[in-house]
Amino acid sequence: MINNSTVHNVLVIGGGGREHAIVHALSRSPQVGKLYCIPGNAGIAQIAECHPEIKATDLDKIVAFVDAHDDIELTVVAPDDPLALGLVDRLQAKGHRAFGPNANAAVIEASKVFSKNLMKKYGIPTAAYQTFSSYDEARAYVETCPVPTVIKADGLALGKGVIIAETREQAQAGLKEIMLDKAFGAAGASVVIEEFLTGFEVSVLAFTDGKTVLPMASSQDHKRAHDGDEGLNTGGMGTFSPQDAYTPAMADTAMQTVFLPTVRALEKEGRPFKGVLYFGLMITPAGEVKVLEYNARFGDPEAQVILPRLQNDVFDVFNACIDGTLDRITLSWDERAAVCVVAASGGYPEKYEKGKKITFGDIDPDVLVFHAGTALCAECGEIVTNGGRVLGVTALGKTLSEAKKKAYDNVRKISFDGMFYRNDICKNH
Ligand code: AMP
Ligand code: GLY
Repeated sequence: MINNSTVHNVLVIGGGGREHAIVHALSRSPQVGKLYCIPGNAGIAQIAECHPEIKATDLDKIVAFVDAHDDIELTVVAPDDPLALGLVDRLQAKGHRAFGPNANAAVIEASKVFSKNLMKKYGIPTAAYQTFSSYDEARAYVETCPVPTVIKADGLALGKGVIIAETREQAQAGLKEIMLDKAFGAAGASVVIEEFLTGFEVSVLAFTDGKTVLPMASSQDHKRAHDGDEGLNTGGMGTFSPQDAYTPAMADTAMQTVFLPTVRALEKEGRPFKGVLYFGLMITPAGEVKVLEYNARFGDPEAQVILPRLQNDVFDVFNACIDGTLDRITLSWDERAAVCVVAASGGYPEKYEKGKKITFGDIDPDVLVFHAGTALCAECGEIVTNGGRVLGVTALGKTLSEAKKKAYDNVRKISFDGMFYRNDICKNH
């Protein structure tokens, strides 16, 4: 329960750039007192008490931690795995307050077969598709299906379980990788094979309490590892907000044909969704709005460009989602644009080394350096790399072009052995 005192202590689950952006947004709230983060990272540790000894997927230890800390009044569950595993349900069962969907609603991200079937049942526009749990049947289908085609592992695969096949041979190879070689483990036991859509992409994240839907400022991610959309899919190499090709008329269509119908559909299925629902949309050349994917959480690195633009007290918004009072909230946004450039470890998203010392240089005071894979080296006392995506440098500017220049000017001041970043984030501005 939220107590009557003026400050409230909050725990955030996760340890990436998204969680740094969430902890940073909470730290700006006059209502928030002490912040905890499990596991956190070296950047989050500057504003929250981190617990790197506990994993975000160790539900037993997290519940025990909250049980043992009477002062924690709210737990914000940010990553997909603990949501899908039912951390929010587990906390609620013990009488703790938690932000994020229950497991039966988080399945909208955790199973692409579920989400495609939901869209079909409720007439929500998306790419035409087939689902398969038999490799032989999928293989036979791919022999005749139109190409390019898109093959998606059913389950959670860190944003990497999607193969765009230009040819049937590539499609066969992709199927084998997912279903036989089990490149994504159990996530590839079933696949969705769908129509290849063209157009432009936009990510719209929305707060919802299960009834009211409040879309946040739009954004766009760059998922491929290298410039010119070359290389493998990653968790996201950079973002910008707003996506200015997404017009108010498109936003209106999206609200009527996608956002509200999705939230209503989940409610009808007995899976009311409370938290952040992320709509990955394709706007086709004909101006149609189609769903590419749903996520049951803030995007990473979308959160790094959206939350710095949010002018509301995010603690109020989280509580309104939980309490079903989102209809009393109006979101307001900083007019300025934001660009985030991710600095990654050489080799990511495949093999990369950790433990490289990071030099930050003289970063502009108004630039936000969100930490993702970083850790404090116990022996040397320095901040070192500890993951594939290491930092997200976010700058605000009057225009996207100004924000982009500032983000790049500052990412260039940072260095670590093997560091790379894309040079074409927000390239049309
Ligand atoms: P997802 O994880 O489903 O968003 O897929 C990752 C990326 O693959 C998307 O951001 C798109 O760039 C691309 N993608 C996914 N589905 C399709 C599709 N049906 N047509 C074209 N591109 C797609
Ligand atoms: N950046 C895409 C995601 O968070 O899924």
